[in-house]
Order: sequence, then C-alpha cells, then structure tokens
Amino acid sequence: MNDAPNPRPDAPPSAIDVERRRVARWLWRIPVLAALAGGTWGVLRGGYVHFFKKRPDPTPAYQEGPPLEIATIDRFENVWDAVTFQYEGTPSVAVRIPEPIAGSLTLEENVHVAAFSRVCTHLGCVVTLNRDASAIAFAFNYRAEGPQLVCRCHLSVFDPERAGRAVAGPAVDPLPRLRLRREGDTLIASGIEPNPLLS
Ligand code: FES
Repeated sequence: MNDAPNPRPDAPPSAIDVERRRVARWLWRIPVLAALAGGTWGVLRGGYVHFFKKRPDPTPAYQEGPPLEIATIDRFENVWDAVTFQYEGTPSVAVRIPEPIAGSLTLEENVHVAAFSRVCTHLGCVVTLNRDASAIAFAFNYRAEGPQLVCRCHLSVFDPERAGRAVAGPAVDPLPRLRLRREGDTLIASGIEPNPLLS
C-alpha cells in the first residue's frame, strides 16, 4: 500500500518546482543554441574563405636569400614541366607556365617559368602539381582551366596561372613565390615571399 502523500492537483507549485521547470526549459535550449552558433560560424567562415581569398601582390616583396641552382633550363622544354626543390628548407616547385605572371621569369621567347613554395597556406601541408583537370574536378570539387597546385589535407587548390592564388578550399593566402633569375643555362632562386603562416 502506498502511503506517500497525495498532493492536491489544484495546489500551487512550490518555489522549488518552479525553479526546476525554469532550468528544464533552458536545458533543452542549450544544444539548439550550440547548433545555431556552430551553423552561423560555419556560414560566416565559409563566406570569408570563399569571398576573401587574397590576390597575390602584383609586385612580389621577396625576402633576400642565398642563390640556389634549381635546374638547367632544358628541364622546362614543355609547358607544365616542373622541378621540385628545397629553398632554405622550404619545399618548392619551379614550373613552366603558358603565359607570364607577376613574379615569373621569361627564359626565352614564349618560355616562362614561375616558382612557388609548396607549403600550403592553410595549415602547412605540402602541395603537389596536378595536371589532370578531371581528377581535380572529382577530388577537389574545382573545375580548373589548367594544372593546379593542390593540397590533399583539406582540399585547397592554388592556381599557378594566377600567381599562386588560392582558388578553392579553406586556404585564403596565395602560395609564396620565389625570385628567379637565369645564369647561363641554369635557373637560380634567390629569395622568397614571406610565409603567411609565420607572419
Ligand atoms: S593544409 Fe592544405 S588545405 Fe589544409
């Protein structure tokens, strides 16, 4: 037999009951508010990443560095031939591009070469040159006009023909470019733009 007191249904709620109900009302709002805040942040961040990708400086400001022989110029016989190398500890790539860009070097008539840091400006993974437009469209969800420097970590894409500008993915800053010069038959690097991850 149950001896617990049977409260009158019309009895006013106690102060403790009122407080419990108030807390309960707020408790279910917490995950809803968290989801709303997360969604809002995601939308703002996505908009920032999409609309505020920085343009490469039309006049690169290189940090002075020691001269480094990259390769002989016959390594750039065809458009999109590329040579990877390390410049002062920075993985880099020199690539022949179809048209000159800010920071490129014209080796001879219609032979233009540019060099980029391969350190992704998002979180520092190493980018690679991908010449397969359909693979870029499939894997990186970006319809490219030509080969791109791509980062597999979070799917950023950088366009060598736009001076290394980030064109897809979470990266905002362009890839730093390297200063190039020709000495005889050799391509030389002698400086690099600052790494935005360190500034
Ligand atoms: S490190 Fe390259 S996209 Fe994140």
